[in-house]
Amino acid sequence: MERGHPARTWAKELAAEFPTFEKVPMKLKERIQNNLVEIQTKGLKRKLASPCGIDLSSNDYLGLAQDERLKNAMIEGVRREGIGSTGSRLLRGERDCFAEVEKQFAEFKGTESSLYFSSGYQANIGLLQTFLEADDIVFSDELNHASLIDGMRLSNARKIIFRHLEVDEIAKLLKETGCKGQKFLVTESLFSMDGDIAPLQKYAEICAETNTNLIIDEAHAVGIYGRKGSGLIGHFKIEKDVFLSINTAGKALGVSGAFIAGDIWAIEYLINKCRSFIFSTAPLPATADALKVALEIVETEKGSRERLLNLSRFFRELLNENGILVPLDNSQIVPILIGDSKKAVKIAESLQAKGFDVRAIRPPTVPENTSRLRVSLNVGLTKEIMREFIIKLNKEFNRK
Ligand SMILES: Cc1ncc(COP(=O)(O)O)c(C=O)c1O
Repeated sequence: MERGHPARTWAKELAAEFPTFEKVPMKLKERIQNNLVEIQTKGLKRKLASPCGIDLSSNDYLGLAQDERLKNAMIEGVRREGIGSTGSRLLRGERDCFAEVEKQFAEFKGTESSLYFSSGYQANIGLLQTFLEADDIVFSDELNHASLIDGMRLSNARKIIFRHLEVDEIAKLLKETGCKGQKFLVTESLFSMDGDIAPLQKYAEICAETNTNLIIDEAHAVGIYGRKGSGLIGHFKIEKDVFLSINTAGKALGVSGAFIAGDIWAIEYLINKCRSFIFSTAPLPATADALKVALEIVETEKGSRERLLNLSRFFRELLNENGILVPLDNSQIVPILIGDSKKAVKIAESLQAKGFDVRAIRPPTVPENTSRLRVSLNVGLTKEIMREFIIKLNKEFNRK
């Protein structure tokens, strides 16, 4: 890289703005600078930006993060329990409200038991590190979330990555690959960056035939799909075929944390062995109070979920009618593919300036050359807003 190349500016700015960076030992400084230059050259520099404009990017699909009933429940919880939990669940961090919401969640999900974690990331790494051992093989969709990938990395199991949603490939792999230990299949049910749905019924059949344990991340599906809103496992009625599921509570449920749901013995095993559960301060107790209300709302207010999926259908059809091709899947996550990272950021910034809070998603969150606008819909949106957005988006595309 030549001196003065624009990609060097970030590293230079860093040095100029933060005198402490100058004090970093030479070799470490060089390493950091090289990494920064690479990030900048590829158009992958990140900036933190608070919400502004119409929400087309949060995971608050049902608007529950702003719901007065949840706010009141949380305030009550804070008055009763204080703010922090003050310790690990295994020590003084435990509270009755955790056990209550775990029981409620298990009923909602149709499992024997569940366990509440501070985040989905913690739940995923903890679950996979706990159950996967050295003689095992784990089969993983190539587009699985980073928290699942990191959990598999923390285990000593052999990893086999299969092409996204390729049922035939996975069936062949599962039938033909043997191991001394256990086989696991790990997948998201609704993919976070593509908004497409895994063929879970097929996976359930193949797993049953090949003695494979099926682990499903329902992060973006819980609260939306199924008769009660419990997710795609419920929608496909495969509860009995699933080893464990992870269900985040900071997306459609509007709060934070995550539930692992499954049989009692598996939950007991996690309580005793899961490092991210044991060696971490318990969540704020009041989150459990808010979640109890969120679960009641999801179960009883079916109209909200239906409205979300209707809006999604409308939005996807309108995009296609306008020549912006998106899959006609029906989920609230709509990927608008751009390809080039810098271009994706430019379009997102331009739309933000026009009042739409839409964000560009770039590698490593998505594969190389598939940068995109990830539009995530919520029930507060209207068809009028969507029409407006598409008009503005079209102008951006025509300008390029
Ligand atoms: C599929 C998937 N799993 C797990 C997580 C992690 O959940 P959390 O944000 O609660 O840590 C996310 C979050 O983006 C996700 O999309």
